Amino acid sequence: MVVKSALVFVVVAVLLTYYCNEPVPPDIAHPTQFASFGVVMRTVWNMAILGEYLGIGTEPQNLRYILGSLIGAAQRVKGTSYREGLDCRDTMFNRVRVRVYEPVSVAKSGAKVPGLVYIHGGGWIMLSVDVFDELTARVAKELGIVVVSVEYRLAPEHVFPAAFDDCVAATKFFLQNAELYNVDRTRVGISGDSSGGNLAAAVTLALAKEKGLPKLKTQALIYPALQALDFNTPSYIDHGHLNTLSKEKMISYWLWYLNNDSSFKEVFGANNHTSEQLKKSQYAGYVDHKMVRPNLRPKVVTPVKKESIKFPEIPNIATILDPRFAPLMADDDDLKDLPPTFVMTCEYDVLRDDGVMYATRLRKAGVRVEHDHYERAFHGFLPQNDVNEVAETAVQNYISYLKKNL
Ligand SMILES: *[C@@H]1O[C@H](CO)[C@@H](O)[C@H](O)[C@H]1NC(C)=O
Ligand SMILES: *[C@@H]1O[C@H](CO)[C@@H](O)[C@H](O)[C@H]1NC(C)=O
Repeated sequence: MVVKSALVFVVVAVLLTYYCNEPVPPDIAHPTQFASFGVVMRTVWNMAILGEYLGIGTEPQNLRYILGSLIGAAQRVKGTSYREGLDCRDTMFNRVRVRVYEPVSVAKSGAKVPGLVYIHGGGWIMLSVDVFDELTARVAKELGIVVVSVEYRLAPEHVFPAAFDDCVAATKFFLQNAELYNVDRTRVGISGDSSGGNLAAAVTLALAKEKGLPKLKTQALIYPALQALDFNTPSYIDHGHLNTLSKEKMISYWLWYLNNDSSFKEVFGANNHTSEQLKKSQYAGYVDHKMVRPNLRPKVVTPVKKESIKFPEIPNIATILDPRFAPLMADDDDLKDLPPTFVMTCEYDVLRDDGVMYATRLRKAGVRVEHDHYERAFHGFLPQNDVNEVAETAVQNYISYLKKNL
């Protein structure tokens, strides 16, 4: 009995210490929630690493399994009553699994409504359409539109460009067959969060060049990951220690998606994956810190042909300049044809500057941009809108942007 109580005491003390050591920005909205989220992420990562060490699955497989189970359990408690009034179907678009949300009223009336392709986040390696079911259902219902949520293939089992190819294939199918879903093909937008924001931006760039397809009406990017060239942007430097999404973990995600070779984590973290020549090229200008810190002098760059850029010996490394992988690497000429764009960013997010830079460059290229920034929020805060009023405001602003721009 005494031994048991002592054990419980030790476990509680360890957890509490763990919890109290969580870095919490002083002005964050809902500090307790932020700290809990950080502790959960840190614990899940440590379990995933321990699992790999013990020979139970690889780190990304374990992350996928543990987070998937936790979120699945929470969702089962909550139920799916939010789906009422929607017809939700799992089907295939061009051999890609998708979930289609169609308001019952739309099917009944037969009127043509707008459509939205949604691409979920999860570092390209985990999560699913299920995890974002409530958000995608809400968008379909509140706007009376058809939403298609894409179950693209995940890394590292499927490295780049698998996820990109799936999202392009599904989006094209939707545009080509819009009428089958009572959708007006000239009013289809695309959206995604985090790695899904990366994929949504990449698909938008690719389809802007595509002939014989209706143009996407808008792209709405929620704290997107847009570049793997510079891991020392001000937001990586200022917020790379936060466990909600640390610099180290973000680099792990990029590497699983790029080549499944995590041995380059430190090299990337030190920006040693790019040559001096590349650091002075136009690509460095695409991530110029001046876009975030206006008092800096603009970076002096020398245009270089992509083919002549040298890289260290790292598998697939030239891919970091491919806009299908990293949309912020698109040339100005490719940006100017993009549709009106919504970019949501949070202050406490290593990806903040990816979003800020993309918004800045798109505006400069003449694209209409709405940039929605949340000073007291963190990466991944959106699905916590039940208990975080800043997140609920963000969801409402996102939906009202879509309402006006689809
Ligand atoms: C990814 O790399 C890890 C570590 O080298 C390896 O164990 C795993 O099998 C690889 N995964 C895939 C899908 O290739
Ligand atoms: C990065 O490169 C610098 C300069 O060559 C070197 O001093 C440093 O050790 C490297 N760091 C890593 C992690 O590769």
